[in-house]
Amino acid sequence: MIIAIDGPAASGKGTIARRLASHFGLPHLDTGLLYRGVGKAMLDQGLDLADEAQAERVALALDPQQLDDDALRGAQMGEAASRIAGHPKVRQALLKLQRDFAGQTGGAVLDGRDIGTVICPGATVKLFVTASAPERARRRHLELQKRGDGIGYDAVLADIERRDERDSARSSAPLIKAGDACLLDTTNLDIEGAFWAALDQVERAVSASASRQG
Ligand code: C5P
Repeated sequence: MIIAIDGPAASGKGTIARRLASHFGLPHLDTGLLYRGVGKAMLDQGLDLADEAQAERVALALDPQQLDDDALRGAQMGEAASRIAGHPKVRQALLKLQRDFAGQTGGAVLDGRDIGTVICPGATVKLFVTASAPERARRRHLELQKRGDGIGYDAVLADIERRDERDSARSSAPLIKAGDACLLDTTNLDIEGAFWAALDQVERAVSASASRQG
């Protein structure tokens, strides 16, 4: 079973993906970390994020085992990731790795922006997780505060709105709900509520797909 989860920044999709993966005993890939990893490596090497050829080179050299780095979770890396994610060659360079992950025996859970539309268009279940921008900013602000990041709420909201706009407007694999994805709005849900709502949607989609096949 492949579960594809997409949605804007801080919508809760990462937490839902992790919880579903653990519930079904499936491996999970947070694909945002791949883009963050490329952005961070470029910044570390003093490269220009607008340079597509350099970004492609860095993406091709990315070691997915090296992404367990807390520094990738900061606000600056989200911004860098969103800038290099607009380069079609970077997206292409990261495609095989994501498809291979999804193709593991037994399946996988992947979350990102283009999983249901580009990476796994044939996924068993697709969820598009969203929440209002102020609620997403509230959650991300709290998360960054816990990390000791002193960034204010207004700056977090502006960052989220800028990234949403850039991710949705880009020509290559924009952030968009796949036509056959289930929409899950988590604005008024806590983590538990969001997980149970997602699980319900997954179970319904799995039984609908089983009855179509059977
Ligand atoms: O999900 P996260 O906030 O970690 O993603 C960081 C950035 O990486 C996003 O704003 C987006 O630009 C990019 N991204 C993407 N496609 C994905 C995952 C992330 O373009 N599948």
